[in-house]
Amino acid sequence: MSAPVVLQVAPSPAFPALVLRPWRTEDVAALVEVSRDRALRRWASSGIDNDADGTRWVQAQQQGWAAGDRFGFAVLEVQTGSVREQLAGNVVLKDVSSGKPAAEVGYWTAAHARGRGVASRALEAITNWAFDTFEADGLERLELLHQVDNLASCRVAQKSRYDFSTLLPAAPPDFPLDGHLHIRTRST
Ligand SMILES: CC(C)(COP(=O)(O)OP(=O)(O)OC[C@H]1O[C@@H](n2cnc3c(N)ncnc32)[C@H](O)[C@@H]1OP(=O)(O)O)[C@@H](O)C(=O)NCCC(=O)NCCS
Repeated sequence: MSAPVVLQVAPSPAFPALVLRPWRTEDVAALVEVSRDRALRRWASSGIDNDADGTRWVQAQQQGWAAGDRFGFAVLEVQTGSVREQLAGNVVLKDVSSGKPAAEVGYWTAAHARGRGVASRALEAITNWAFDTFEADGLERLELLHQVDNLASCRVAQKSRYDFSTLLPAAPPDFPLDGHLHIRTRST
């Protein structure tokens, strides 16, 4: 992919506009700041404690874009009447491979931006982009996994028309509890 991909989500009466674009080195300070949040550490297992961790994490996202198998977007909120964009979250398309019908999505929202539809609106944007971009590569299905007690994530999946598919058995130590597999197909 030559030019950086930028996805726009229009504002609604209730929520500000979003911009989704590949992670950049200049995001590291804000990434380290939002990574202090306990929920994010628990559910997204980012383990980012300092600038060096944040730089490594951003570089891993950039390597994913270069390799063409993982596409991580920084999600930025744009307040009405302002040019300032604030880091609000992350959404990622991963495990993409030509000829493979399935890929996976993931997301997190910074604590200060939760409850404003950031995850669900960003997920809708990346879902549409993924199906449009990788249709010729045979992408038919996107999978979303969360642990059973992550009720907010389950709600995001439902709102974004990722239907519940399968109960996944726990796989400690990374997944101590059962999980949900949700699926959205290209035709949904
Ligand atoms: C899950 C997460 C991404 C949601 O982000 P968000 O931007 O707040 O999501 P949205 O605003 O689009 O939707 C959240 C929905 O969950 C609901 N919700 C929040 N906490 C909830 C809870 N404890 N139980 C049930 N529903 C809950 C909200 O009410 C909202 O639903 P609604 O719009 O019907 O009211 C965010 O909480 C987060 O980053 N958590 C930590 C990381 C994580 O869990 N990532 C996903 C790993 S699978």
